Amino acid sequence: MFDLNNILRENIKNLTPYSSARDEFQGEASVYLDANENAFGSPLDEQYNRYPDPLQYNVKKRLSEIKGVPVCNIFLGNGSDEAIDILFRSFCNPGVDNVIIVPPTYGMYQVSANINDVEARKVHLTADYQLNLDGIAEAIDDRTKMIFVCSPNNPTGNSINREDVETLLANFNGIVVVDEAYINYSRQKTFIQELTEYGNLVVLQTLSKAWGLAGLRLGMAFASEEIIEVMNRVKPPYNINEATQQLVLRALQNVDQVNEWIKQTLIERDKLVLALKDFDFVLDIYPSDANFILVKTTDARGIYNHLVDRGIIVRDRSKVELCEGCLRITVGTPEENIALTERLKALHLPA
Ligand SMILES: Cc1ncc(COP(=O)(O)O)c(C=O)c1O
Repeated sequence: MFDLNNILRENIKNLTPYSSARDEFQGEASVYLDANENAFGSPLDEQYNRYPDPLQYNVKKRLSEIKGVPVCNIFLGNGSDEAIDILFRSFCNPGVDNVIIVPPTYGMYQVSANINDVEARKVHLTADYQLNLDGIAEAIDDRTKMIFVCSPNNPTGNSINREDVETLLANFNGIVVVDEAYINYSRQKTFIQELTEYGNLVVLQTLSKAWGLAGLRLGMAFASEEIIEVMNRVKPPYNINEATQQLVLRALQNVDQVNEWIKQTLIERDKLVLALKDFDFVLDIYPSDANFILVKTTDARGIYNHLVDRGIIVRDRSKVELCEGCLRITVGTPEENIALTERLKALHLPA
């Protein structure tokens, strides 16, 4: 049985979080002399001289309406990368505990593990980029605190079989992190509706992809109220700045625009796949549920360099295990995708 108390670090269990001025007094007052701010204002048209809401209530309320998840089940981070780091700091004792990652996958799980001095046990995906459940079961021991599953997966683009994730959730006594950064492009259902079913589930989403707000840095974690409460205690007091909170609130009014871009991206993805298939140096294009495609080629480095010389940057993933020869290509605007295929037509690789 999953019990949060069994996996929480002792120092976090006993942590008295920093109590900010904005935590101690909530409500409206006419004079604020409690936070050592500059009362005169900001040297800007907009005023940012006051600290932001530490728990970002207004943003969460709007997200709660959009996602259908109560505010108490939402954590906001400075990008989902911050949520990943806070999960490590909350649950993994440095030098003692371990987590399981399933490469090829998003690189920050490993980096965050390294920063926190936590062993990341690798159980590679199968040849068709699905979970190796037997391998994961073997790798788990009583110091395993988290398993990271990215679906749709970066860099492979495919969704992970839902039943396999459910098997992990039902049988693992630690936390299963399901990273859904690309969920808006996927045919698969999100896991955020399953929070009441699984107390050990943490779903990560972000405004950096389909929502077009990578520069504002806003990531979301959805989990049980207990887990969210721990993450809020561990996070820096004002981790989401005021400009981000205000701009995100405005952006969240534009759901229709975002849905339109998602539709266009999927159309463009299909067109790009068709165009790339014709090139001799393209060996395979993996099915994608995301806004990028993984393309297996005869010479990833040669193609990458050819494109860089012509001002187009893609991601060379050819050194990544199970992605040999692969480039990861983000779907751009119609003009950008045409520019890419036109530049590739000028490429002549040695036979
Ligand atoms: C799978 C995955 N998770 C998380 C992130 C990071 O998201 P954020 O910008 O919210 O930190 C990325 C970014 O590339 C990603 O691919």
